[in-house]
Amino acid sequence: MRGADSGPLLRLDNVSKSYGSYQALQPTTLAVNEGEFFSLLGPSGCGKTTTLRIIAGFEIPTGGTVHLAGHDITRTPPNLRDTNTVFQSYALFPHMTAAENVAYPLKMKKVPATDIGLRVAEAIGQVEMTRFSDRLPHQMSGGQRQRIALARAIVGRPRVLLLDEPLGALDLKLREQMQHVLVHMQRKIGITFVYVTHDQGEALSMSDRIAVMSAGRLQQLASPRDLYYQPANSFVAGFIGKSNVISGMVATHAGRTVLQSGPLAIPMADRSAKPKAALRYEAIAVGPEAEARDIAFDAVIEDALFLSDKVEVTLSLGDTRLVAMTPSQRDSQFRPRDSIRAGFHTRDLVPLDE
Ligand SMILES: Nc1ncnc2c1ncn2[C@@H]1O[C@H](COP(=O)(O)OP(=O)(O)OP(=O)(O)O)[C@@H](O)[C@H]1O
Ligand SMILES: [Mg+2]
Repeated sequence: MRGADSGPLLRLDNVSKSYGSYQALQPTTLAVNEGEFFSLLGPSGCGKTTTLRIIAGFEIPTGGTVHLAGHDITRTPPNLRDTNTVFQSYALFPHMTAAENVAYPLKMKKVPATDIGLRVAEAIGQVEMTRFSDRLPHQMSGGQRQRIALARAIVGRPRVLLLDEPLGALDLKLREQMQHVLVHMQRKIGITFVYVTHDQGEALSMSDRIAVMSAGRLQQLASPRDLYYQPANSFVAGFIGKSNVISGMVATHAGRTVLQSGPLAIPMADRSAKPKAALRYEAIAVGPEAEARDIAFDAVIEDALFLSDKVEVTLSLGDTRLVAMTPSQRDSQFRPRDSIRAGFHTRDLVPLDE
């Protein structure tokens, strides 16, 4: 019964995977809660698909265990797990209508015909494709086919739906539209999603929590907001949004702990004094506004990129380089080699471990 087990719905404990001498996944521990939209995010080759295939049962991990609803499923074959997978290439059967495609997994499971009709109609309704039930795949657009593939994946009511870059083949507009469809559908039907993507914007906008991975290692597991404002290390700070990584030396200056980086002496709260800190581009103010910040300094404009609503200004202070993202205004101009005031609040600095 759903929700009858206490604890997380899905749990990976020290799960690792090696291919010969190559370790694709370092020992990884994470838990996914029932009803959660959970994402695995990271650059190509970081081990996202490997992790998903282990959850689906297409791979047996080299070490560690996988639990679903309290049961050890580490060695359970895929078809006996309460999971289903949607891939980027969502091959529908070309000679079957949308409704026949969605009905197929239920027929395989020998569900009674009367139930099949109802459940197919329900699943197709959930992806808002009722009008297309009788179409063949070649009579539908890419986005419509993807919706039918989703309906086919949820019709068997898996407890966990695994999605591996399901929108990767779609163009940007359709991708954004399908992101809304997916989030809406997930909330409505309440199936737990584990979603793989290398697109940070996609992960941030859709997920309840995100596991950021790099080089086979879990870097941070947190909500989108916390990943953005409290990155745990320089990898996450660089991968999520745009951040300066300021490195220098922790020193004592007039009785206060400071991070000394080039000409900048940035006061730090003692307990969090680290030789490295992240600072979001948009946390740096340039021009007259800089005076209202905790720290203001003179800098030289190296370069300015006009991005319609924003301007990305690269500043240099001796050997230190900082990038500021500032709202673009009709009259403001940033000329290379001009001197400018810049500043930021020390509370916006995020100390980094590595
Ligand atoms: N069957 C295999 N044999 C050997 N190496 C493999 C195998 N499957 C994956 N790998 C390697 O493991 C690493 C992780 O692969 P994985 O497919 O999990 O990456 P990914 O994060 O999904 O990347 P992408 O975003 O490109 O899909 C890669 O370096 C890959 O080459
Ligand atoms: Mg992959």
